Amino acid sequence: MKAKIIGTGSYLPERVLTNQDLEKMVDTNDEWIVSRTGMKERRIAGPEEFTSDMGAAAARAALADAGISADEVDFIIVATITPDYLCPSSSCLIQTALGAKKAAAMDVQAACTGYIYALAIAKSFVETGLCKNVLLIASEKLSSVTDYKDRSTCILFGDGASACVVSSDAQKKGHLISSICLASDGEQSDLIVIPSGGCRTSAQHYLKMAGNEVFKHAVRRMESACRECLNLAGLKETDISWLIPHQANIRIIDAMAKRFEHLPPERVFKTVHKYGNTSASSVGIALDELLKQEQIQEGEKILLTAFGGGLTWGAALLTASGESA
Ligand code: ACO
Repeated sequence: MKAKIIGTGSYLPERVLTNQDLEKMVDTNDEWIVSRTGMKERRIAGPEEFTSDMGAAAARAALADAGISADEVDFIIVATITPDYLCPSSSCLIQTALGAKKAAAMDVQAACTGYIYALAIAKSFVETGLCKNVLLIASEKLSSVTDYKDRSTCILFGDGASACVVSSDAQKKGHLISSICLASDGEQSDLIVIPSGGCRTSAQHYLKMAGNEVFKHAVRRMESACRECLNLAGLKETDISWLIPHQANIRIIDAMAKRFEHLPPERVFKTVHKYGNTSASSVGIALDELLKQEQIQEGEKILLTAFGGGLTWGAALLTASGESA
């Protein structure tokens, strides 16, 4: 049994937070932000719009794209570091919002690598026959853990959600999940931290990050994940048609592009300039946009890679069905 992505969707909130808006909030400027991060704007959820609301919107789009209804979903996985609550899970809230009564539901937490981790779980559940249709959702309201007085982090993050349906349905065309690799390094867990919400602390709500340190890890770890994922699939770097790195910073994306130099720049897909870093949702939003915008040819290889707090990182290789756009 082979697992494939039979539909994708994404959701971005309406409100746009531009670099000019940020100039009025902290001591920064558009030139610094664009040259250091590649970001021009990002989206911010409304005060009454939460991770499960955005996730449900992305999920509806993915189900429509896949041509299946909510009651055909066996399992809902939500990747997020900004759940509505610690308990109940955001996946249970989304299950109710969709009316996916037959589905089991759980959240996973692997920071910005959440989409790739959730994809590995979905692939395993489908290929072992435990489930036929898994609905994967990555959704983040990062604005809720962003300190808008800290210029070193508040310029980076945006809100948004992405989703896909992973299925073994032989009647449906889809992008085959050819290989996946995952990794973590708990020894570096202090580099990206949201201290509150767990049993150790209660009132330290804002995300803190050692940006410089994280930058170096991000490039190295994503490159090694990509190479391992290609090895697992028995493929070479020159077999990749598209690269979708985690949208954390244009300099990280460009550094990755340099390491895969046979790929023309337009084949390294980017959304960082308009959405910023949406953590777990980031590679999923980019994948959805790529599949909706471009004529992907049958057999083309799409390599996704992400990196985030934990530390966690990973990569997933898709073989396209050629039915996009
Ligand atoms: N505007 C103007 N100046 C600023 C700003 C700002 N918004 N932020 C920092 N500065 C200043 C600093 O204070 C520093 O000044 P100093 O030299 O006088 O001390 C100077 O700019 C340089 O700061 P650096 O931190 O060295 O800037 P850097 O070029 O490293 O860029 C950044 C910072 C954008 C955070 C970068 O390090 C980065 O993108 N890191 C990786 C982030 C990432 O990959 N995250 C992924 C995981 S996130 C997750 O899992 C949730």
